[in-house]
Amino acid sequence: MITIAHLSDLHLGASPLAPRTLEDAVATLSGRELVVVTGDLTDGGRAADLSTFHRLTAPLGDRLVVVPGNHDRCGDDLGSALMSGARVDLQLREGCAIVRVDSTAPHNRVAWLSHGRLCDDVLRLIDEALARVPRGLTTVVALHHHVVPLPAEGFWEHVSEVLGLPNHSELALGTALLKVLRGRCDLVLHGHRHVPRQFVVDAEGARPLRIFNAGSTTALGAFRTFLLDHGALLTEPRWVQVTQRPRPSPQHWQAPLRALTLA
Ligand SMILES: [Fe+2]
Ligand SMILES: [Fe+2]
Repeated sequence: MITIAHLSDLHLGASPLAPRTLEDAVATLSGRELVVVTGDLTDGGRAADLSTFHRLTAPLGDRLVVVPGNHDRCGDDLGSALMSGARVDLQLREGCAIVRVDSTAPHNRVAWLSHGRLCDDVLRLIDEALARVPRGLTTVVALHHHVVPLPAEGFWEHVSEVLGLPNHSELALGTALLKVLRGRCDLVLHGHRHVPRQFVVDAEGARPLRIFNAGSTTALGAFRTFLLDHGALLTEPRWVQVTQRPRPSPQHWQAPLRALTLA
């Protein structure tokens, strides 16, 4: 069995509350979880904020797995610091394989161009990484950007939507990615959208593919954990609240599970 804690969109540097919330989150963990942080660790891509992240997550050791988000590409461009320049790699931990995917691109250096980008070469690298996963391991794909359409959030995204700009759009190859993952992967963990969501492909099949958007851990003051055994979720995902400050209600966090059909 393995427990995965999914954090995302910490935006360190945006507010003094963000590092305190991350510190609270790390203190809440039992010490056995695999912790996946799906990008936007920093708000402005500043190296000093990444240092804060490393300091606060040091107790996690090699149980920490991160991918870059679009905000991490601004400022000092932390993309290669977070994934060594690779677009895809395979991380093996006890009972779990994590395929890390860098869904950011050079256009993210411009702060308002926030959308992600995949290409056929990246899909091929993901396919090859999945082929190397030992049989029977819980398999997770971690990336920052969303793979299915999600509603615009905030004023400027609604403006972008009206203008037909791609800023808040899902990955153009999101459905193609899900087709690569179907039957070979158990969880897709992502962030970027700050409101949590959840989806499932092949809900009644032998190997459902579940997709979770963490939302912004520091804005919500909460994160999900997943208890899995050989890829099967043993319980419903559990929300852990890490601060006592006023937060959105649990009803706001707990978006209903939606079934997806892949054409
Ligand atoms: Fe974000
Ligand atoms: Fe983002």
